[in-house]
Amino acid sequence: MIVEPITMIDVHSHILPDLDDGSPDLTHAAAVIADAARQGVQAIFATPHCCDGVYNCRREDILAEWQNLCEALEEESIDIQVLPGAEIRVNHDLVERFDAGDLLTLGDAGHYLLLELPPMFIDRAVFEMMNRLKQRNVIPIIAHAERNPMIAGDRIWQRNFSFWELKFRSRPAV
Ligand SMILES: [Fe+2]
Repeated sequence: MIVEPITMIDVHSHILPDLDDGSPDLTHAAAVIADAARQGVQAIFATPHCCDGVYNCRREDILAEWQNLCEALEEESIDIQVLPGAEIRVNHDLVERFDAGDLLTLGDAGHYLLLELPPMFIDRAVFEMMNRLKQRNVIPIIAHAERNPMIAGDRIWQRNFSFWELKFRSRPAV
């Protein structure tokens, strides 16, 4: 039997230093990434908190820290792809901020937006914002969806989110 190699991509990490509650410094970040590479991870998205009221990382600051990290990894010959992104808390102005170019999509490619839902209640306005993102050919990816009780404990909600073509992560995240 031939076992095909599995591509492992971490789509959500708080690996960048100096932006949120992630890595304390570049040395620590590089060590964690080197460990991930040894475990077979081929790519990691660096996704600090954005718009959550505590950490409001700006797009240009994330890109600058990401560049610093990439240079550090290259200096240490750590062979893994690190891409920029953000974990964006869903607020009422989500779509307007996306349209204004404030929000960093995964890989800065314009296709996938990593979102953090409100912690408890998800109301209709959230679905409407998801739909507006879809109209812009942007697919929302929900970070640690398992934390939200409306999703975690309700198969109907899970089906609804599936209908809206959202992607789920199942493992605990930072
Ligand atoms: Fe997170």
